[in-house]
Amino acid sequence: MQFFNHFLREKGVKNDLRSLLYHIARSIKYINFSLRAGNTAKLDSSNASGEEQMKLDVLSDKIISNELEKSELAAVIASEEQETPLKFSAPRGQYAVTYDPLDGSSLVDANLAIGSIFGIWDTTDLIGTTGRKNLIAACYGVYGPRVIFVIAVKGKGVHEFELNDVGEFCLTHENRTVALESKYFAPGNLRCTRSDDKYLALVQDWIRQGRTLRYSGGMVPDLHHILSKGQGIFSYPRDEKYPDGKLRLLFECDPFSLIFEEAGGASLNQEGTPILDMKVEEIHQRVPIFVGSKTEVERAIEKIK
Ligand code: AHG
Ligand code: MN
Ligand code: MN
Repeated sequence: MQFFNHFLREKGVKNDLRSLLYHIARSIKYINFSLRAGNTAKLDSSNASGEEQMKLDVLSDKIISNELEKSELAAVIASEEQETPLKFSAPRGQYAVTYDPLDGSSLVDANLAIGSIFGIWDTTDLIGTTGRKNLIAACYGVYGPRVIFVIAVKGKGVHEFELNDVGEFCLTHENRTVALESKYFAPGNLRCTRSDDKYLALVQDWIRQGRTLRYSGGMVPDLHHILSKGQGIFSYPRDEKYPDGKLRLLFECDPFSLIFEEAGGASLNQEGTPILDMKVEEIHQRVPIFVGSKTEVERAIEKIK
């Protein structure tokens, strides 16, 4: 059995980054605990994107920001649940961490799997940069029947750990990879097929080809399904309601793009540009996303472009 921290040291991940990941892992354990005992009530407030907040969104955000502050390595943090980034005074490190504290929180009352997503940047100036330039690691936690922690460090692969009964994340899968082609599809925002004939045709193609639908409505478990089966495509295109798509560049799409590229997959926007090459223009920027098996993602973009 290999604990995640020992494993990362053997992989040559440097101390500061390991320490930051250790604090993120701690926050995943605390969020998991809160979810098991948690309050699924909605608050009267909304977040920076105008979406309803739940007590658990706010609590998870607090757990993560406390842990990141304690790390003394994050100089700047930006959260889906906070209007503006937060700067910590006199940190030892110069990293920025961007995160979605609870992805899929509207599914929590139905007891479906949900998750937390993190991006680690080696700059504190997020505006104007790209994931390609400054995103050095990304990770996510999945809260399901089991608690899973997946880490990608740029150039060092994608690795999966599982929380054991004594609260340690232990290695379960080293070097996850995603095949070029796939039989699974996870089509988000099907509402868009009412106005976008190309997306309708793409989804109909997938159905006629006899592919297997695997879609839960939670980006984290839906993408984790693709990573664990080693194949699949997930899409969330734009429509009238969401002209730039729904999912956010800094909190959801860039972190998953690093993870999937690192596993040999692809992650493109609706124009076919790799999401990691998109310039960050604002903190809560959204982007349409097609991610998963590389050939499938490229074919999908050719059809809907
Ligand atoms: P969040 O709970 O952080 O707002 O994100 C939910 C996201 C994502 O998990 C999922 O893929 C997508 O919203 C589903 O969107 P629709 O509700 O439009 O289907
Ligand atoms: Mn989310
Ligand atoms: Mn969220």
